[in-house]
Amino acid sequence: MKIAFELNGKAAALEIEPRETLAEVLRARFGLTGVKISCESQVCGSCTVLVEGRPVSACTYLAYEARSRRVTTIEGLADPQGRLHPLQQAFIDRFAFQCGFCTPGMILAAKSLLDQNARASEGEIIAYMSGNLCRCTGYLPILRAIQQASAELRGEPRTSGDGAEP
Ligand code: FES
Ligand code: FES
Repeated sequence: MKIAFELNGKAAALEIEPRETLAEVLRARFGLTGVKISCESQVCGSCTVLVEGRPVSACTYLAYEARSRRVTTIEGLADPQGRLHPLQQAFIDRFAFQCGFCTPGMILAAKSLLDQNARASEGEIIAYMSGNLCRCTGYLPILRAIQQASAELRGEPRTSGDGAEP
């Protein structure tokens, strides 16, 4: 079947098999390897992409479901000049990754949250991010990175306590 959708701000169209997942199509047909595949059963969140601004597990989301929709992957987050999104920069500033396998999904899920609620509390961030698992960081740097980006997106100046976690 032929599908058309918007991918990272550009029109995309291709022939797919109805059984193909969005993760398979994004990685194999578009070379968007920032979409990470791990559990393949909608548990870990590493394959998270945004469809119409909301996180979906691309490992179980069939590609045809994205037809006529707006899909965003981590490759689409920097601005046209290549400036990183505040969440991407905050993950670097806070050392919020080690192996990095969970990071694209983490950042995209967090973007969806902050787009909906720029003033998300610590508890709201933890609850929203519960579908994204990390084996490396212990989560605190991730939480702090999301809080840093949240403050920046609200236009708040960084405070003296905004250094990286020890
Ligand atoms: S690879 Fe999709 S949720 Fe784990
Ligand atoms: S940084 Fe390794 S799984 Fe999260």
